[in-house]
Amino acid sequence: MTAHKSVQDYIRTIPDFPHEGIMFRDVTTLFQDPRGFRLAVDQLLSPYVGARIDRVAGLEARGFILGGAVAHQLSKGFVPIRKKGKLPARTIEQDYELEYGRATVEIHDDALEPGEKVLIVDDLLATGGTAEAGIRLVERLGAEVVGCAFVIDLPDLGGRKRLEALGVPVHAICAYE
Ligand code: PRP
Ligand code: ADE
Repeated sequence: MTAHKSVQDYIRTIPDFPHEGIMFRDVTTLFQDPRGFRLAVDQLLSPYVGARIDRVAGLEARGFILGGAVAHQLSKGFVPIRKKGKLPARTIEQDYELEYGRATVEIHDDALEPGEKVLIVDDLLATGGTAEAGIRLVERLGAEVVGCAFVIDLPDLGGRKRLEALGVPVHAICAYE
């Protein structure tokens, strides 16, 4: 009998990418496998079945792939949170810290209505800087983040604690210590 594979079984690790010493968790091998992709999307959204979610927001870039599938499965709209300079209409922007330097993400200022309940989706939670910037954008539009869902958590980098300190529940399918 073949044992069922877990989501983690489909994720590939590339040592020393993009820098020496980084163990890069590569989700392309998860996305390209039909069983793996369905398993990941089903497990990402399972805590939210029956909950009120008005829209799903995805963080560029891999959060678009997962967030689009989650939104479709929940029959909700999808809202992209993009790196600065990519969205064509009027935006609000939020700076955040990177390992080296700073970056900026944006959301269209008419993407959410005040009071809407939003699920934020991305592939991986590391320091939580990207997700925190996404939370701040959603909240600045008057909407509420009901949760942040990730395939991978890297708990040593503190992202879960950082987001939970903001009052946002975190769901992750698997973790790498
Ligand atoms: C990766 C990952 C998350 C973010 C997590 O994206 O997909 O979005 O880093 O890191 P953090 O929790 O420390 O903020 P990246 O910034 O590499 O951008 P990309 O998806 O456009 O390649
Ligand atoms: N983003 C931050 N750390 C990462 C890692 N180890 N693998 C993939 N994406 C990342």
